[in-house]
Amino acid sequence: MMMIFFVLIISNLLYTIHSIPPSLPSQLYVVPFRIFSEGNADGSVDRPYTSIQQALDHIDTDRKQRIIINLYPTYHFVNTITFTEQHSRIRLTTMNNEIASFYEKIAINDSEYSRLPHASISGGIPITGWTTTGGNIYTATVPQPIFVNQLFANNQRVSRTRLPLNQSYYFQYAAPLQDPNQARYGFQYDRGQFENWPLDDAMVVVYHSWTTSHHYIDRIDTTNRTIFFTNPSNSPIGTYVIQGQRRFHVENLCIWVPNSFCFVNATRTIYLMTDGSYDPTKVQIITPVEEFVVIIAGTDVTNPVSDIIIDNVVIEHNAWNIARTEQADYQAASFLTSAALYIANATSIVISDVQIRHTGTYGVWIKEGTTNINLMNSLISDTGAGGVRVGQMTAPVTTPTSSIQILSNEISYGGNVFPSGVGLLIHRATDVVAVDNSIHHQRYTGVSVGWEWGYNPSYTSNILIHSNYIYNTGEHILCDQGGIYTLGIQPGTVISNNVIKNVFSYAAYMWGIYLDEGSSEIVVANNVVYNIGWAGLFQHYGANNTIINNVFARTSLITPPQPDDPIPDGDLRIMLTENHLSWRFINNIVYDTYQGTNHSIFKSDSSNVSVIFNSNIYYNPFQTKLLFGIQQTSFEEWQKTGQDSNSTITDPLFVGDVNQCDFFTVQSNSPAAKLGFKNITKLPKWSLGCGIDNSNESSNQFYHW
Ligand SMILES: *[C@@H]1O[C@H](CO)[C@@H](O)[C@H](O)[C@H]1NC(C)=O
Ligand SMILES: *[C@@H]1O[C@H](CO)[C@@H](O)[C@H](O)[C@H]1NC(C)=O
Ligand SMILES: *[C@@H]1O[C@H](CO)[C@@H](O)[C@H](O)[C@H]1NC(C)=O
Ligand SMILES: *[C@@H]1O[C@H](CO)[C@@H](O)[C@H](O)[C@H]1NC(C)=O
Ligand SMILES: *[C@@H]1O[C@H](CO)[C@@H](O)[C@H](O)[C@H]1NC(C)=O
Ligand SMILES: *[C@@H]1O[C@H](CO)[C@@H](O)[C@H](O)[C@H]1NC(C)=O
Ligand SMILES: *[C@@H]1O[C@H](CO)[C@@H](O)[C@H](O)[C@H]1NC(C)=O
Ligand SMILES: *[C@@H]1O[C@H](CO)[C@@H](O)[C@H](O)[C@H]1NC(C)=O
Ligand SMILES: *[C@@H]1O[C@H](CO)[C@@H](O)[C@H](O)[C@H]1NC(C)=O
Ligand SMILES: *[C@@H]1O[C@H](CO)[C@@H](O)[C@H](O)[C@H]1NC(C)=O
Ligand SMILES: *[C@@H]1O[C@H](CO)[C@@H](O)[C@H](O)[C@H]1NC(C)=O
Repeated sequence: MMMIFFVLIISNLLYTIHSIPPSLPSQLYVVPFRIFSEGNADGSVDRPYTSIQQALDHIDTDRKQRIIINLYPTYHFVNTITFTEQHSRIRLTTMNNEIASFYEKIAINDSEYSRLPHASISGGIPITGWTTTGGNIYTATVPQPIFVNQLFANNQRVSRTRLPLNQSYYFQYAAPLQDPNQARYGFQYDRGQFENWPLDDAMVVVYHSWTTSHHYIDRIDTTNRTIFFTNPSNSPIGTYVIQGQRRFHVENLCIWVPNSFCFVNATRTIYLMTDGSYDPTKVQIITPVEEFVVIIAGTDVTNPVSDIIIDNVVIEHNAWNIARTEQADYQAASFLTSAALYIANATSIVISDVQIRHTGTYGVWIKEGTTNINLMNSLISDTGAGGVRVGQMTAPVTTPTSSIQILSNEISYGGNVFPSGVGLLIHRATDVVAVDNSIHHQRYTGVSVGWEWGYNPSYTSNILIHSNYIYNTGEHILCDQGGIYTLGIQPGTVISNNVIKNVFSYAAYMWGIYLDEGSSEIVVANNVVYNIGWAGLFQHYGANNTIINNVFARTSLITPPQPDDPIPDGDLRIMLTENHLSWRFINNIVYDTYQGTNHSIFKSDSSNVSVIFNSNIYYNPFQTKLLFGIQQTSFEEWQKTGQDSNSTITDPLFVGDVNQCDFFTVQSNSPAAKLGFKNITKLPKWSLGCGIDNSNESSNQFYHW
């Protein structure tokens, strides 16, 4: 009876779904639950594989044609899936609705699985067996020796318990330790901060300047209130007095706070307190296990994996692990070695319409030996560190990363575990195009390009950062960062037509565009930069940069949190001016709104300034006394030095409402237009308004800040 029914459905289906003629072997199916079927799985529509790995293991490696692996839209909990050179010419996607419905009809429904909008390739495991003692408190034991440091319930990140409770607050330690090496392993704490807790599984997160360091606890010495960690920070704790403010917080102490969990390693027990809105015995609860979820990597750079398409799937739940003695502290969280999707020794790869989310480290890492990699139309969100990482730290680069396209993605809500992760990090790579991305809600820099402090080869060139919308970065947490940040000599790098807004550090050093040490040969054109804590443009030191046709508006907006913090540095600043041309600054508009005194349009910290300024418009609607250069001279004195000979201080006459931050176009009779300023194209994603918070623009907010 059942078999007749089954055959009828199959023939019906094959008749009606023309996209899968029975003779074409290029379509394979993966269904992770049992169905009524005869014979061994061969991947065909009536005898699907039960796992992605099973499909990969059975693929004919000598074949010429492409194979499409169609996944049923539910969770596929995997051990790391690796595509090597043998798996070239594969497309991995979610099966269409008709086929998914067909499998539901012939399912032997003896397991709990649910249909999702897309197939999810998850590096985690479901956590089941929750028991409760009331009060929204639940416990479960994990089946294998993993250290649970991330938990996702109902597709939302659950916070690991944190003290102090309010995410905006920090503890402050009493004093750093004197010995510089010992000071990397601990500090002197204040009474009450550590004595009352079991500390075996706790993690102390220390705020430096542009990084945090993450520490397990070795012991405390209660006689002189000293805590000792098992692993070091990069610089001695306490090095950055203003930026760090002796701040730290503690994670994974078992305190009862709604929507948080802690983990006791000795008993492998998770303690979860909900807010009462869901029942852990009824919803999907997942903890990540695998550090890599999907790897696309040839074993050798000369024999790369090629022609892989991944589309319309979710890749999620990668784990982070720090060994107890491992240092977990470096710029851009670059000490991390994993990512949810990792690509190396590969060419001709398309990742399109994919969601990469709920990660412990970076979402995507396109690494060594790669060419022609395309990441587009995808959402990379709720990441533990940054969103997308391209290239590598080590030099010289023997296996280059080149010809990489990052197009029309949304990269949002990063830094949930490692705040110093960067939205889009491009280091030691060449010919990278990053266009039309929206990058927002990152706890540190939005886009970082280059990886060489100073004038040695940076192995970074021809990077195009164009038409990206970069906003709400920094979020008042770390220091020393930018909406866009660059390092080193980069011939061919162009930063154009981006909108950057709402860049704030905790206390000091935050810039819209930040040309850091050695940044040279870079063109910065047609960008609109506003709502910045310090200057809109900062160059630490560098040579031959061209800054043309940009708008820098509403800068130096931060109110420093401590009374003796440094005050903001104006609109434009060069710190070290050396014995060569630092920049050409032509056809720009600086729309300054500062209402205090002693405020510089352009500030240089050294007298040796070699710059070219001309054909610019400067304006402040509240005051005319604007200062220039090291001596903070008047505009007239500044012009006497040969600078800005035909620039003026006057209203640039924008077309749009400046009180709504519409700074893109100027009227035809604008003095800026007369000097050569050209209208800037509005990004379709940009929206009107000067709000610093912009919480209404937060689409896809998986994690509540
Ligand atoms: C399988 O059974 C579960 C529990 O009864 C149900 O929620 C689910 O929708 C069923 N799945 C299918 C494909 O029928
Ligand atoms: C945390 O502190 C900030 C700053 O004082 C306050 O605005 C916010 O309401 C507090 N949050 C909670 C959840 O109490
Ligand atoms: C506390 O004593 C230990 C052991 O003598 C020492 O290593 C540590 O530096 C001391 N801490 C402080 C703050 O002096
Ligand atoms: C957790 O416990 C296991 C087993 O005892 C141990 O090997 C591991 O190091 C512990 N993990 C951490 C982070 O302490
Ligand atoms: C890429 O190839 C190189 C050798 O050419 C090899 O050393 C490296 O491990 C490969 N990378 C990966 C991720 O397999
Ligand atoms: C700047 O340009 C000059 C003149 O073309 C060149 O000699 C110098 O090497 C350039 N500097 C850097 C750091 O690229
Ligand atoms: C200033 O410029 C002169 C020559 O132009 C050079 O000799 C000197 O080293 C420069 N000083 C600094 C601090 O850069
Ligand atoms: C103005 O600010 C500069 C730093 O930008 C500082 O060195 C100087 O002392 C200030 N002058 C006055 C009068 O406050
Ligand atoms: C800029 O665009 C506006 C229309 O939005 C137009 O009226 C104006 O003339 C343009 N300005 C220049 C300098 O071309
Ligand atoms: C302004 O000065 C620049 C450089 O000297 C020159 O090329 C340009 O023609 C001048 N523009 C006007 C409107 O005078
Ligand atoms: C968000 O949108 C709501 C409804 O449109 C509005 O009332 C509120 O003021 C907006 N909030 C912000 C921060 O723009």
